Amino acid sequence: IFSRFNAVTTAAAASVLLSMCAAQADSFNIAVGDGAGGTQEALGKAFIAALEETTDHTASLFLNGQLGDEQATVNDLSIGTLDFSILAINNITPFSPSVGTLTLPYVILSLEDAITVTQGPIGQEMVENTVRDAGVRIIGWAYSGFRVLTNSARPVKTVADLEGLVIRVPPNEIMIATYKAWGVNPTPMAWSETFTGLQQKVVDGQDNPYITVYAMKFDEVQTYITNLRYLFSIEPLVVSEAVFQGLSSEDQAAVLAAGKSATDFSVQFLRNEEETIKAELVSRGMEISDPADNEAEFIKLATEAVWPQFYEPIGGVEKLNDVLTALGRDPV
Ligand code: MLT
Repeated sequence: IFSRFNAVTTAAAASVLLSMCAAQADSFNIAVGDGAGGTQEALGKAFIAALEETTDHTASLFLNGQLGDEQATVNDLSIGTLDFSILAINNITPFSPSVGTLTLPYVILSLEDAITVTQGPIGQEMVENTVRDAGVRIIGWAYSGFRVLTNSARPVKTVADLEGLVIRVPPNEIMIATYKAWGVNPTPMAWSETFTGLQQKVVDGQDNPYITVYAMKFDEVQTYITNLRYLFSIEPLVVSEAVFQGLSSEDQAAVLAAGKSATDFSVQFLRNEEETIKAELVSRGMEISDPADNEAEFIKLATEAVWPQFYEPIGGVEKLNDVLTALGRDPV
């Protein structure tokens, strides 16, 4: 009897142990707003490779907004029903206005500027703000290049050329104000609806980086590109704070390290791919124009009209000045 009892308890203990081990190895879902071939997918794949190498956890990417529109994923992350999301920073701004500094026109003027701001103390403060405001933690950054304007009607080189065009923007107050400064009343539309909106000509155009235009197959529904440089697209990898806090401290450290190595990969991805993808879009029939006069009119109108409107939501003019100073530019 004794040895039977012993065998039963040993088996029970083993099965409890097994189920504890199984409980510790999670299989995470990662929502991705864009399609295959873009910076979001590249960041996600690099993150998964590093995560799976250093922990027992696994993760899968769900591309093309399969797990919901980018802004909807922020809600899901904040209540912990989604694990991770990779999305454009402009779609986090409505939930945590301080990251709006990264959406103000003509603040980030190069990839190097984007790296300086996101990977230094300013980026760290933004991480803390988004945890506090939105229940999401930024653990990695993809850098996608400048958002160029595409449309299906005509080449656009001047602010006047925009007149009469219906332009889709993300539901983001700063981007809406920027187009208003250029004399256009833009149409806010969820990212997940944008391809169809362009295809059905509900809107004539939109802006996003070359790599995103390619990943979303916008060349099938758009012809003209204006090489605007008003907004450098930064696309973070975020984890639900509830999910992150449920991890052991070793796993938290591994997640942060995987995010950092994916970020480094994203820098190389943009450097390696952007020019090739731009050429590919031209070979598929897209026509690229540079804005007239080195973009001077776009720059003047946007910075003068838009920046002051958003000092308060970003946390005061000093927050913008911190960024400008970190970038070696004059404060306002
Ligand atoms: C948007 O335009 O809503 C986003 O920037 C698109 C993206 O995530 O690539």
